[in-house]
Order: sequence, then C-alpha cells, then structure tokens
Amino acid sequence: MASSFFSIPDVYFGEEAIHTLRRLNHKKVGIVTDNFMATSGKTRYLINEMPQAAVSIFSDVKPDPSVEVLQAGAAQFKTFRPEVIIALGGGSSLDAAKGIKVTLEEFFPGHAIELIAIPTTSGSGSEVTAYAIISDPQNGRKYPLIADELVPDCAILDPHLVLSVPLQVAVDTGMDVLTHAIEALVSTDANDFSDALAEKAIALTWRSLPEVFRDEKNLQARSHMHNASCMAGMAFNSAGLGLVHGMAHAIGGMLHIPHGKINAMLLPLVIEHNAERSPRAATRYLTCAAIMGIRAATPQQTLDALVSGIRDLNRRFAIPATLKELGTDMAHFTSLRASLTAAALADGCTATNPYEPVPADVDGLLTRIAG
Ligand SMILES: NC(=O)c1ccc[n+]([C@@H]2O[C@H](COP(=O)([O-])OP(=O)(O)OC[C@H]3O[C@@H](n4cnc5c(N)ncnc54)[C@H](O)[C@@H]3O)[C@@H](O)[C@H]2O)c1
Ligand SMILES: [Fe+2]
Repeated sequence: MASSFFSIPDVYFGEEAIHTLRRLNHKKVGIVTDNFMATSGKTRYLINEMPQAAVSIFSDVKPDPSVEVLQAGAAQFKTFRPEVIIALGGGSSLDAAKGIKVTLEEFFPGHAIELIAIPTTSGSGSEVTAYAIISDPQNGRKYPLIADELVPDCAILDPHLVLSVPLQVAVDTGMDVLTHAIEALVSTDANDFSDALAEKAIALTWRSLPEVFRDEKNLQARSHMHNASCMAGMAFNSAGLGLVHGMAHAIGGMLHIPHGKINAMLLPLVIEHNAERSPRAATRYLTCAAIMGIRAATPQQTLDALVSGIRDLNRRFAIPATLKELGTDMAHFTSLRASLTAAALADGCTATNPYEPVPADVDGLLTRIAG
C-alpha cells in the first residue's frame, strides 16, 4: 500500500485566530464543552465573534467522556440540527464533540456537519487527529476510536484560551505532548513527514514547558506549547503512538488518573524498556536526546541521561514516579493486574510500539510503575 500523509485540517493560530469564527455569523452553531468553559466566559468569547449566529450549547462533558455523554449531546442537538459544531475545551471536550458529530450525521444521512476544534489545553492534539478516546466507566476501559470522519475541518489555536489552565493541568497535559512526539518519533510507522513535526514538537516542548512552569502567564511560552501540541497531534496521527499510550489508556481507564500524568510517569520506564530491546528505538531515542541538547560520553550514557532528564522534569512538575507515591490503593491495583496487562496489549496504540511487547513485558512494567 502506498504511504500517505493525511490531509491536515485548516489550522489558524495566534492571538487573532479566533476571528476565524466571524464567517459563522449567520449559521446554526452547536458548541460542545464542559461546565467550567460555559460558566467562566469562554463560550461568550466565541459567541462575541458571531453575534447573529443561532447557538445551542451542550456543556455536560466530563473528563474522559463516555458513550452516554455522546448520546446526551446528540439528543440535545437532534432538533436544533446544527450546521457547525464547535468543540471547545481540553481533549475530553474535543473527543466528545467528535463523537457527537458522527452520531448526529448517522441520524441525518446526507447532512454533513462542519467540525471546528478549539483546544483550551495544550495536550491532546485532538484538534488535528482522527482519534477520539471514549471511556466505558462500567468496565473501567478507555477505547481509542480511529476514523477519518473524526478529523476536524478546522482547528483554532488561540493562546489566550490556555492562560487559565491551572499549573498542574498545564504540566500534565504538556507531558502528554512530549509523549505524543517521542512515541511518534520511535513508532514503527514513523516517516519523514511525521518526524519533521515530532522533532519540532519535542524541541518546543522541552524548552517552553519549563518556561510555562516558571511563569504561567508567559503568553509566548503558552503559544509555543499550544503549537507544539498541535504538531505532535499531526505527527502521531500519521505515525501512531506506542506502549506508553497503550498502558496509559489501560491504567487511566481503570484507576482514573489524568491522562498526561500517567503518560509522564510511564514514559521513562518505557524508553528504558524499548531501548534495551530494539536497536532502532535506541537510535531514535538518541535523536530525541540530541534535540533536547542531552549528550554524554557513550550512547548508553546518553540514553540514561535522557531517562533521568525526563524523571527530573517530572519531579520538578510534582508528577510522582510510582502509583504508590500517587496514593493509589495498591490492593485494588493488584486485583486489576491481569486486566491491565490484557487491556494494554489490546490497545490500538500499542500496535506501533517499536518492540512488540508480550504479557511478561507489560507485567514487568506494571511492577515498576507500582513502586
Ligand atoms: N483524541 C486524541 O487524539 C487524544 C490524544 C490524547 C489524549 N486524548 C484524551 O483527551 C483527554 C484528556 O484531555 P486533556 O488532558 O486536555 O484534559 P481534559 O479535557 O480532561 O481537561 C482537564 C481539566 O482541565 C480543565 N480545563 C481545560 N481547559 C481549561 C482552561 N483553559 N482553563 C482552566 N481549566 C481548563 C477542564 O475543565 C478539566 O477539568 C483524555 O480523555 C485523553 O484520553 C485524546
Ligand atoms: Fe495522549
């Protein structure tokens, strides 16, 4: 099969990007968001750009959206029949909006709905991906859905919208960006196009995330992180991800840990694990280290320095190294171990890990992340 690089949605970025919404002034617009966005003036910020539009707001998205949320959103919009859906929020709102859009299009065959994604965290990259991560809370599972219909038509990256992200959410989501970029770079489906985007996303994140941490009002650093998040999304949309995400979906789904935080905790362990087993992965991790300005006397020492550099960053960001340190109920964790291993191996993201893991690999990593 011929290799291809997906068609990227139109991306508008920077302090004036929100004006793009002016063209919707006479349309029927559904906004999908969470309660915080609706009550903190962020939906008003959008509506001010299109005062004549007919607007219906669905603001019941919860972190890690479930099928029930998609059904509730679609039910609200069924009579309104929006021409456009705007997804406003973090990855949870963006993924929910994707699911709602597709559900509505199934209700109304032939009624195509434009999807505009406006991320308010610098993390998921969902504004440019064909992924929607949907949770099944009854069974404690998170499933990555992957389909071309889920790619938004347009993404708006407005750095003003991320200034209010609390510091801990900013660093957790920022570590999700770093994980997307590193996993895309070492993935079995990495290619010249995804590499270009992943490499730039690593460079921007490694420099700008500590700057955001030092001064959360630094608009330039916030802008760089917002752009990096989008680039990392483009990279993994083409190249796929790896075992960090496979395990993070399993652990996050069952133990309800913020997505970026559990990725950050797993990242150094999976780098060590993959580098020991795959020479190609080791070479690619050395590329990551070079981009970050990390080098030592030998390749192995450079890999060790990369892993400890990420651990140091996690420590600085108050991200724990182990589940025990995070305060997880360890008896509960132990009872879930077999299911966690099965879910991580079955996750679609694990398929492009540079080394194909077997149950014993995941089990060993679970022992290390447990602490
Ligand atoms: N579709 C994809 O490609 C993709 C990729 C990675 C992750 N995900 C999914 O995205 C979800 C995580 O998204 P996330 O990390 O962005 O978190 P999130 O959307 O769950 O939001 C986390 C919290 O931050 C708050 N928040 C968001 N923006 C804010 C702002 N500007 N100011 C103040 N508070 C704000 C939210 O209200 C929420 O309480 C997970 O379900 C994850 O699995 C999807
Ligand atoms: Fe992610």
